Amino acid sequence: MALRILFKKPCFPIPSHYGSTVPLRQFKTFSLPELPYDYGALEPAINGEIMQLHHQKHHQAYVTNFNNALELLDQALAKGDASSTVQLQSAIKFNGGGHINHSIFWKNLAPVNEGGGEPPKGPLGLAVEEHFGSLEELIKKMNVQGAALQGSGWVWLALDKETKTLSVETTANQDPLVTKGASLVPLLGIDVWEHAYYLQILPVD
Ligand SMILES: [Fe+2]
Repeated sequence: MALRILFKKPCFPIPSHYGSTVPLRQFKTFSLPELPYDYGALEPAINGEIMQLHHQKHHQAYVTNFNNALELLDQALAKGDASSTVQLQSAIKFNGGGHINHSIFWKNLAPVNEGGGEPPKGPLGLAVEEHFGSLEELIKKMNVQGAALQGSGWVWLALDKETKTLSVETTANQDPLVTKGASLVPLLGIDVWEHAYYLQILPVD
């Protein structure tokens, strides 16, 4: 996840007894990660225009709003403003989740000439067969659960790192998978938000 560290002047009055030796406070802000391929590299499965909008407009908005909410949170904490601290939690969860989820999503995709569209091999391929019967059954299960999502959300192929099991999970809105369980690791995330495909209607068989 793209992360950069900024050093800022304190955003609250410094008690005079700190003198001039008060260290600058450290903030971590997030930035839009680069895509590991060109916007048009996934065509014809996903066209370049929707990829560019999805990345530059939608993901960027989550990053911007996440950083803004963290800045406000920092100010609220510095002032001891409990009400604002609590009020900001939903914006942090939504926009921080949007940044986390999309950062995974871009890495889940790959152009055909870089292995995109190939069925999983090795231990993952075996685990898919063991847990779901076949790759086709896994795809069917993820499609069914994605279609059943009310509103917007995500469908996940999850690994429980404690039980070493695979499962299909869904999360609402931009909730990241970790909200379903601290031991769940996302292996594959499918964005079921309309903004992921609204310029393109894929054929349904
Ligand atoms: Fe999205």
